[in-house]
Amino acid sequence: MSWIFLREFISNWQMTGAIAPSSARLARKMMEHAEVKNAQCILELGPGTGPFTEAIHSCMPDGARYLGLELNTVFVDRLRQRFPTMQFEAKAVQEYDFDEFLKPGEMFDTVVSGLPWTAFPTELQIAILDHALTRLKPGGRLATFAYAGFHLLPTGKHFRELLQSRVNLLGRSDIVWLNVLPAFIYQTTKI
Ligand SMILES: C[S@@+](CC[C@H](N)C(=O)[O-])C[C@H]1O[C@@H](n2cnc3c(N)ncnc32)[C@H](O)[C@@H]1O
Repeated sequence: MSWIFLREFISNWQMTGAIAPSSARLARKMMEHAEVKNAQCILELGPGTGPFTEAIHSCMPDGARYLGLELNTVFVDRLRQRFPTMQFEAKAVQEYDFDEFLKPGEMFDTVVSGLPWTAFPTELQIAILDHALTRLKPGGRLATFAYAGFHLLPTGKHFRELLQSRVNLLGRSDIVWLNVLPAFIYQTTKI
């Protein structure tokens, strides 16, 4: 399915933010850091063609609820066909009304992010992060990845600082070399 991803990257590189989908190895590591196997309510940001979604699907507990928010309608159509028991909305994260999904008093246990944060302007990073975090349980997990090396650039450093101003940054994973490009995960919890 990578050619679809590449085509979407060519038509909107800034929103797609990567030339290839994440690898299964990075996806497995994301599941560990997001503790998806213990989650009852899961939010995925920017599932794209679904590498993290596939991993979530295989390790989420029976009866757990899942919401995937993806801007690109081509990806959403495919995700709906591929994972008919999971819920996808073709919406920008920062504009989605979570009351449409969450039951009264319900919050997400974990957030798995596939968003290309460093391709976004700061205002958009803040809008997305703050909007998603308002519905994450205190102590809930947020796992997000960064491309190794890019985290040393000013945009990468800036995003890390933003993350640290909003969540507890517990640490980062080892680099997953088997990924285009090699990447690591920031493991965080809601303050
Ligand atoms: C770097 S791709 C990652 C896709 C997939 N998670 C992966 O790891 O292969 C980022 C995805 O986020 C989506 N996206 C970008 N901005 C978004 C936003 N504000 N709300 C929802 N999805 C967004 C893009 O359309 C794209 O599919």
